[in-house]
Amino acid sequence: MSEVFLEAKGVSKTFVGVKALDNVDLTIGKGEIHCLIGENGSGKSTLIKIIGGVYKADSGSVLIEGRELHEHGIQAIESIRAGVQIIYQDLSLFPNLTVAENISINQMLETNQQGVNWKTVRSSAKKALEEIGEEIDLDERVENLSVAKKQIIAISRALTQNAKLIIMDEATSAITKEEVDHLFSIILKLKERGISILFVSHKLSEVFEISENITIIRDGKKVGVYPTSELDYEKLVFIMTGRKLEYAPYIYNEEMKEDVPLLSVEGLNKEFQFSDINFTLQKGEILGITGLIGSGRTEIAQAIFGLNKPNSGTIKLKGKTVHISSPEDAISHGIALLPEDRHHQGLFEAQAIGDNIVITVLKKLLAGLNLISPLKKQTEGDNWIKKLSIKTPSGATPVNSLSGGNQQRVVLAKWLATEPEVFILDGPTIGIDIGSKHTIHEIIRDLAEKGMGIIMISDEIQEILDNCNRVLLMSKGRIIKEIEDSRTTTEEELYDIVTRNYEVEAGA
Ligand SMILES: Nc1ncnc2c1ncn2[C@@H]1O[C@H](COP(=O)(O)OP(=O)(O)O)[C@@H](O)[C@H]1O
Ligand SMILES: [Mg+2]
Repeated sequence: MSEVFLEAKGVSKTFVGVKALDNVDLTIGKGEIHCLIGENGSGKSTLIKIIGGVYKADSGSVLIEGRELHEHGIQAIESIRAGVQIIYQDLSLFPNLTVAENISINQMLETNQQGVNWKTVRSSAKKALEEIGEEIDLDERVENLSVAKKQIIAISRALTQNAKLIIMDEATSAITKEEVDHLFSIILKLKERGISILFVSHKLSEVFEISENITIIRDGKKVGVYPTSELDYEKLVFIMTGRKLEYAPYIYNEEMKEDVPLLSVEGLNKEFQFSDINFTLQKGEILGITGLIGSGRTEIAQAIFGLNKPNSGTIKLKGKTVHISSPEDAISHGIALLPEDRHHQGLFEAQAIGDNIVITVLKKLLAGLNLISPLKKQTEGDNWIKKLSIKTPSGATPVNSLSGGNQQRVVLAKWLATEPEVFILDGPTIGIDIGSKHTIHEIIRDLAEKGMGIIMISDEIQEILDNCNRVLLMSKGRIIKEIEDSRTTTEEELYDIVTRNYEVEAGA
């Protein structure tokens, strides 16, 4: 390896009840692009906050260019002086200040009685942007910029402070594929200038694309450090999750098929959203619905769940027409919907995990005098925590302290508590890391095997093929194709149908 810039040795950190880091080592060379990868909650952010001096390690040390940091207690300042700049997920910018002011914020703060030297503020901002080949209007207020542009501002600010190591925490979680490519080109320019990069992520494809070396952590422990060229996708997944994630196709048990299907949707229409929607769902099926974003999938799910009134059409359960005009109606008929956006529609984040789970079944928990029995409530919550292996010390812990994968299990539990016969899952694994995603798929398959009828909506064709026995393809509000047996097709074929149809309809 090149000359060492930063070395963390035997770093441990415990929060109340959680061992976030256990004896972790990390070495980053000068001008190296190093990746720190691990699933949500594995300790990545904690490690970089220790490097940045935000947290103090319980034990272990951090050396920069051979000098031990943090021996005098003024931790954060020491890290910055040594050339470490951290770009956190929230970017820590001042939205109401201009581009120039944000980039040169330190030049602004360092002024004396003469006041701010605006000339220096502008010229240093301009210089920093030029170093990475960017042109952004210096007088634009930062709040008007896209997340990707804001990131560039944060990187430029790091440059005005003589950064020798720039750490980016989950920098790609809120930007598009094109913006990721652009960010990577900037990272390469930084490397050319001799700056080291620590790219922190849980996304495998990105890590392969950009890094030279990869440190992998799992549950707070370092489980490996490799040159990227020595790893492949499977090996990295195995080391990162500690499991081999395999998918056998989901095979429908024909014995569950009945003459009258569990759910039939007939001639469902809604102006500007979807038209002529016809399909059935049998007990024990996992029916996939995919298509490009905006193809009408979510709107259909909401119509079945009573959140979106269709203009015409019929919904039948076991052959009987049902009228669903609210989620309460849907739940009483045994239908549940896991919504696309769990943060806004699925969870009360500051509330306890247990309370979030039982919210859909409060009636079941009533004791005398129409009061909720605390014991019943706790038992119900704890049952689901156990059944879905939700990783928490107790049901009283607030939901927002959980990782994404565990939060999604809370949403699943909340709907499973209603004992649905039809369960619609809209984007069940969006934003969830690979190991948790696999666990959620296993839970879904298990429910179907026991007879629940499941509709899985996803953008990710591979996820649909891995888990569904039958697939509907949608485009522009219509079902354009049904694949009776998902084993007879491939990802390429489905992708091709979906995009080709889109182009034809768009008049290309
Ligand atoms: N300030 C904190 N207080 C209590 N627990 C924390 C705190 N910060 C992180 N944790 C816990 O430490 C573990 C590691 O978290 P984190 O470093 O944020 O992981 P990552 O960045 O890899 O997703 C998690 O279990 C998390 O819940
Ligand atoms: Mg993190």
